[in-house]
Amino acid sequence: MGVTLRDELVLFLNNIFSNHLGIEGGSNGLQVEGKEKIRKMGFAVDYSPDLLNLAVKENVDFLFVHHGIFKKPINSISGYFYHLIRDLIKNEINLYGMHLPLDLHPVHSHGVKIAEKLGLKNIEFYGNMEGIKFIVYGEFEREKNIQELIKYVNENISDTLYTHLFGKKEIKKVAIISGSGISYVRNVLERDVDLFITGETSHSYYHLLKFHMLNVFYLGHYNSEKWGIFSIKDEVEKNFDIETEFFDIPTGL
Ligand SMILES: [Fe+2]
Repeated sequence: MGVTLRDELVLFLNNIFSNHLGIEGGSNGLQVEGKEKIRKMGFAVDYSPDLLNLAVKENVDFLFVHHGIFKKPINSISGYFYHLIRDLIKNEINLYGMHLPLDLHPVHSHGVKIAEKLGLKNIEFYGNMEGIKFIVYGEFEREKNIQELIKYVNENISDTLYTHLFGKKEIKKVAIISGSGISYVRNVLERDVDLFITGETSHSYYHLLKFHMLNVFYLGHYNSEKWGIFSIKDEVEKNFDIETEFFDIPTGL
């Protein structure tokens, strides 16, 4: 395995996400700069002290995560935040975070990858979040029995699946929003869908979902947001001769 330069890797990744790189206050991209020469790249869903410990132990030079550390303005470098960056800087590990631009990516988004894993056809985006289509939509060629679908999802996509089965038993039209997508259910309902797949659930939506007779699969936030990371890892492996590793740190949520 070889070596690449941090700047080349950053340029390559920024190019992939160039469509939406400016959203979320420009906090996506290289969040903490580290060493210049990259031999090993680590991938994970969440940046955390657990991940940092593993990265140090496994000699990772560059971390790619979905949930990075700069979503809110920083007022002080203390407490938990200090611990998130102290060893990162000490070990000169680069931290690259890519949140919404990954969720919205036409090829690499978690939602598109989940749709592909389910075998959905006619995959496209709909809905409107500040002018951006953000809901993944796809159709089964032939209707699928919901119990068979639950079995398939349990075995292949999420071992933390929770369901609300208020709708049809035969499923054709599916909407997907990874992560905390339930709060966008009203946008989802702009289309007539048989099943909505998202990450986390919330008590507050139970009666609304029942009223609209909508089936919902909750994969768990973590299990709904691994798929885009795998896709970017594949892309890096195709283009760079460096060592890569996915760090699986599930939260069960
Ligand atoms: Fe998320």
